[in-house]
Amino acid sequence: KVPYVVGRKSPTAVAINCASKTGEWIKSRLGAYNELNTKHAPGDLVTDVDKGAEMMIRKLILTHFPDHTILGEEGVAPGAAASAEALSEARKSEYLWIVDPIDGTTNFVHGFPFFCVSIALAYKGEVIIGVIYDPMRDELFVAEKGKGAYIHGQRALVSKDAALADGIVAVGFNPDREFALPTNMKGLNALAGQAQSLRAGGSAALHLAYVAAGRLSGYYEVGLNAWDIAAGALIVAESGGIVTDTVGNPYDIGVRHLVASNGKIHKELLDVLKSADATGITQ
Ligand code: IPD
Ligand code: CA
Ligand code: CA
Ligand code: CA
Repeated sequence: KVPYVVGRKSPTAVAINCASKTGEWIKSRLGAYNELNTKHAPGDLVTDVDKGAEMMIRKLILTHFPDHTILGEEGVAPGAAASAEALSEARKSEYLWIVDPIDGTTNFVHGFPFFCVSIALAYKGEVIIGVIYDPMRDELFVAEKGKGAYIHGQRALVSKDAALADGIVAVGFNPDREFALPTNMKGLNALAGQAQSLRAGGSAALHLAYVAAGRLSGYYEVGLNAWDIAAGALIVAESGGIVTDTVGNPYDIGVRHLVASNGKIHKELLDVLKSADATGITQ
């Protein structure tokens, strides 16, 4: 159920407009941010461009849908507890936009051209629209629930790799050095011996978009937030892939420890992570 009012833009059009306009602006600020700060960990960066991009997106969304709620990374205090609290409050809204203004801030800061804008719309807690825009490659990934996923209008489909040994898998280096990073390193270590090869691009949302596009066969990371995942999770699912938490529970906007894949290698991925004690979840 997508809200649509005659004479107004559809939410998908608004999401695409927000992501592409904001993405272009972010690109224009590459190497030209004015402020750089750290959040709760030394490797957790934020710039004035992250904040400006989130403000642009908020303004555009609220122009079209003034009664909708927006959960954006830069509007939430850092840390897992604050994120959980903000998400549980946001869940009360019927229509909830989940926004990561720059996914891959560390890359943006260093001029490593792998970052994106990620925008999702959830209805009663279920993601119904996902848009990811990579301004450096002008690549737009769009999915609507039940209608497939598209890259610039071309259908996105996951890879055909039937075994972990045939595919490349992305991993992430979460800045939380207490828990997420050591857990991810255990997973990485175990996967390195099983997958054909590993990649770590530094943008959770683009990793998910690449799983959807068949460029990666899987992606694993512990310690993410709703805004890193929401748009990409729908895009992967609509491309024929599977998204779960690290022990195999179906994706929900509250999932933080993530496995996404082409479906065929999913069980193998989960098994490797479980035997390496790298799920981040105690059962
Ligand atoms: C980060 C990126 C990174 C991942 C981190 C995320 P941000 O998001 O997605 O790849 O490893 O866990 O926090 O802070 O650049 O939006
Ligand atoms: Ca961040
Ligand atoms: Ca992010
Ligand atoms: Ca971000």
